[in-house]
Amino acid sequence: MNQAAIRWISGPVLRAVTRDPFTIQEAVLVGGKGILGEVIRMQEDEITVQLFEDGTGLRPGDPVTGHGLPLSVRLGPDILGNIFDGLLRTLGGEERDFLRPGQMALPVVHFHFTPLAEPGRILKGGDPLGSVQPANKAGKEQLILIPPDRAGEVLWIAPAAEYDTNATLCQLRDHHGQTQTITMCHFWPVRRPRPVARRLPVGPPLLTGQRVLDTLFPVARGGKAMVPGGFGTGKTVLLETIAKWCDADVIVYLGCGERGNEMAGVLDEFPKLEDPRSGRPLMERMVVIANTSNMPVAAREASVYTGITVAEYFRDQGLKVALMADSTSRWAEALREVSGRLGELPGEAGYPAYLSTRLAEFYERASRVITLSGKNGSLTVMGAVSPPSSDFSEPVTIQTKRYVRNFWALDRKRAQARFYPAIDPITSYSEDADSLAAWWSQEGAPAWAIQRRRLLTLLEEQTRLERMARILGKDALPPGQRLTLLCAELVNDGFLRQSAFSVKDRHASPRKQIRMLALLIRFMERAEAAVTNGLSVERIAAQPIMRRLQRMGEEIDDTELERFDELDALLEADFSALVGTDGQEQQP
Ligand SMILES: Nc1ncnc2c1ncn2[C@@H]1O[C@H](COP(=O)(O)OP(=O)(O)O)[C@@H](O)[C@H]1O
Ligand SMILES: [Mg+2]
Repeated sequence: MNQAAIRWISGPVLRAVTRDPFTIQEAVLVGGKGILGEVIRMQEDEITVQLFEDGTGLRPGDPVTGHGLPLSVRLGPDILGNIFDGLLRTLGGEERDFLRPGQMALPVVHFHFTPLAEPGRILKGGDPLGSVQPANKAGKEQLILIPPDRAGEVLWIAPAAEYDTNATLCQLRDHHGQTQTITMCHFWPVRRPRPVARRLPVGPPLLTGQRVLDTLFPVARGGKAMVPGGFGTGKTVLLETIAKWCDADVIVYLGCGERGNEMAGVLDEFPKLEDPRSGRPLMERMVVIANTSNMPVAAREASVYTGITVAEYFRDQGLKVALMADSTSRWAEALREVSGRLGELPGEAGYPAYLSTRLAEFYERASRVITLSGKNGSLTVMGAVSPPSSDFSEPVTIQTKRYVRNFWALDRKRAQARFYPAIDPITSYSEDADSLAAWWSQEGAPAWAIQRRRLLTLLEEQTRLERMARILGKDALPPGQRLTLLCAELVNDGFLRQSAFSVKDRHASPRKQIRMLALLIRFMERAEAAVTNGLSVERIAAQPIMRRLQRMGEEIDDTELERFDELDALLEADFSALVGTDGQEQQP
């Protein structure tokens, strides 16, 4: 046991004198109440500790004790479906209390265990030892894995039966001949990435059901995306919408430093939501970690590591996991506050110089992998960034941009016009898109990459032409350019706009997106040909098909895709009525 005595304390940071061999990142308990903290710096006879709970009342001389172990969380099957604080202590149910987290232990839950190994088998770290299902049947089946740092020959394994989360399930003889006890839960240090057999290139898309994302700015499974946007531009609603609809097996939702009411959607609404796929409660495959702005700042700093460790735990079971962090800016602010208390030399905007390294370490843990036991698993990470006054040149935005491959920029003007999701198609990008074309091709859209590029080019043209139109007047533009503007508006209203609250349109399957995209492209081709042949843009704009295309997302839901055939037919009929067989305009 390592011992130290407080010398100096300031808010969440203290320095303590010691001669014992503390290590960096060691978890410590401070004072008579045993407040949890972590060693963040060591000098000659002194350690610096950040406190994860309120340290009011602590005084110089009070004891600091450590056991040489890094800050760790307890991982087990009972995590799924629960709400925790930043250090994975429950915050669920009636007793939810933002001011005094950590007082409650998880209720002991019973699981039905089915062994998947027998005595004599050699099991290595990450191998499944058995599967469990909540005894009350409310919840997903999960695997129990040998912790990554254990291995050995099975001496004994628990027979199929009900056990609680504290149960011992197996005994191994390791290569030193020592007996190792394997329990249903194990501890893992949050700042250490869980090991995998191999990392893979990012792979098929993580489908979000949001057209502007899946079609224009798709994220691959194992990929990483950032959502920068000023206050009220829709970051939280977007991340919540993705949490509800994306095709991940497990969702880890990390509310980081936002005010409690910002998290109300997740904390109050999600527990009541039904999973659109299974019809079961959505929470059964979700973990919520909430470190709201009134909770201790150092715990917020730790919460992103807690979240990603939990996500890796599920990835290691061979699952597709998605993690949403809202907002990584508040996490960076926590880093800044602790750094300030330490008297470190501030970098840009007061953030410590290691902000960039920390962001890199966090996003690096997004991954598609072969797990230690040879399964495919993925962890996709999406982080909101809240730049003060929407200034995307501030450090957190700039530094995050270096490490993510997908940039989903929320635009204030769009949000003000209530155009949702307010993702700006001009500044946003996806570096995963090229590698996903093959997947869309298999889904029945061989021209996906070309069509996508065409929409992006059209939207860029729109920006340029609108600028010209503001100077010259719209009527001064030649018909071809006016048609471009008409088509771009149609793409915006008929495709990119998608209300999170429309029952038919809050989620669009890939097939629906493919049908809509194909219709828009066909419209553009027919309209261009018609204008080339002398037809006026106004006549095209007045066709009934225009209005139908603008509203097709809301009119046709995923279960009635055959209704797109009607629109195909209407489009052809409209254009053949307008344009004669010789390609000349018909007189009305
Ligand atoms: N996709 C959307 N569909 C409908 N309304 C939205 C959407 N996104 C945002 N909004 C509206 O904008 C408001 C602010 O969004 P929010 O996500 O809380 O912003 P932020 O987290 O960026 O501060 C929401 O309360 C909602 O009324
Ligand atoms: Mg928000």
